[in-house]
Amino acid sequence: MDVALQRPLAPPRHELRRADPCAFVIFGAGGDLTKRLLLPALYNLAAARLLPEEFCLVGVARQDLSADDFRRAMREALREFATGKTTPEMLDRLLSCCRYVRGDFDDSSTYERLKAELADAGPKAGTRDNCLFYLATPPELFAHVARALGKSGLAREQDGAWRRLIIEKPFGFDLESAQALNQELLSAFAENQIYRIDHYLGKETVQNIMVLRFANGMFEPIWNRDHIDHVQITVAETVSVESRGRLYDHTGALRDMVPNHLFQLLALTAMEPPNCFEADAVRTEKLKAIDAVHLPAKDKVLADVVRGQYAAGSVQGKAVSAYRQANGVAPRSTTETYVAMRLMIDNWRWAGVPFYLRTGKALGARRTEIAIKFKSAPFALFRDTPVESLTRNLLVLRIQPDEGAALHFNAKIPGPEIAIENVRMDFKYKDYFDAAPSTGYETLIYDCMIGDPTLFQRADNIEAGWRAVAPILKAWRDAGGGDLALYPAGSDGPQAADELLKRHGHEWRPLA
Ligand code: BG6
Repeated sequence: MDVALQRPLAPPRHELRRADPCAFVIFGAGGDLTKRLLLPALYNLAAARLLPEEFCLVGVARQDLSADDFRRAMREALREFATGKTTPEMLDRLLSCCRYVRGDFDDSSTYERLKAELADAGPKAGTRDNCLFYLATPPELFAHVARALGKSGLAREQDGAWRRLIIEKPFGFDLESAQALNQELLSAFAENQIYRIDHYLGKETVQNIMVLRFANGMFEPIWNRDHIDHVQITVAETVSVESRGRLYDHTGALRDMVPNHLFQLLALTAMEPPNCFEADAVRTEKLKAIDAVHLPAKDKVLADVVRGQYAAGSVQGKAVSAYRQANGVAPRSTTETYVAMRLMIDNWRWAGVPFYLRTGKALGARRTEIAIKFKSAPFALFRDTPVESLTRNLLVLRIQPDEGAALHFNAKIPGPEIAIENVRMDFKYKDYFDAAPSTGYETLIYDCMIGDPTLFQRADNIEAGWRAVAPILKAWRDAGGGDLALYPAGSDGPQAADELLKRHGHEWRPLA
């Protein structure tokens, strides 16, 4: 039963300023990320008049291309991947400021040529020598490119100009490699020059978690162990491993999703209100939440963390072969494509409240959500009526798809007797706001251009994520992989994940 909400008038739009003049340098400009996300995002920023007028885009890649070839490739990419209609004027304008530097990333002359290109482009475009380096390269090159930028002097900020580095995921493979990468980056750039991306933070609905909690007076007083029974965080995907088999087989669902995306959702749900909405205040509170993540003692980790791998099945009517048959995957691979866990947050607010996390590929439905289950009403007022069991209140924040939030509560069914049913009050973004289609990278790129790192990961945040999952990685390693539970593609995940919750008197929300 749905309770309808009234649609208000469209809210007034807040005028944003254009970003600072700058050169946007993409390392790995020939790759998929550039074509599918970065270029369309830059186009959307230009169309929204948020890209600076004084701007140039420099692609750096190995392919032997002229600047014209590069522009043609970028035009083609926009034709294929733009999120909405493009206009020829805007396209020409964006593409006319594209430049190209060919070179290997381990060749110092590449950086000398880049320097010369920037020295030429800067004054012509009016970039004031501000420069944003985007590492859209394979992860094994991150440290290398950053070091080379440092050595060549390109990382140096002087005469009021800024130099910033955007670095993509995956950030390390475990705690040690993430620490080593941080050290490398910090030997060339200062922390305030480094913008580590977690693309989940570019999602409006993820940013809305803080607004929901801290811009409304009604949630915070009940957002704690006195009122909340448990929390479920789900990132379910219908996609299988597709063409990423070789890479994924060395990564697995835990590394791919948990210390980054799921922990971002967890941190935003569990954090204390920051003193102000300033980058370090927010990131410090998120860090404290992740630092408080507590997994059971070594012998119990295996029981509280379920690893699964999809077997053949069918996802939304389409046959999907087993993970082990995917290209690049070892035929006897024990890599997990699904992980579910129960963890606690050891602090005053959350003591005793389980947080259940699950994520997997080739599941029956695509759904990312945070479900907050409240405790039952404290007094059995309706015990002498036909009401058998009241459902507990539930707040569901739908991150994607069908973005919105729903509150489930009990209501009386009209009639002479007391009969109660669970109803739902539902807010859908699309009913209230007309958001332009976007890639999810627009805000992140814009924020970096205006020097606001709130939505980026600080070194200590990244390391805290890895530190929290380290006991799981270790327990699996010690157990030679741990028990791997197979689940048919298209299902809700392995049975062992249901049993994990059942043991604690809980139940997952169904995916479909
Ligand atoms: C990426 C993971 O970081 O996030 C992928 O490497 C995953 O495996 C993707 O599919 C999910 O992102 P989204 O935005 O589709 O939820």
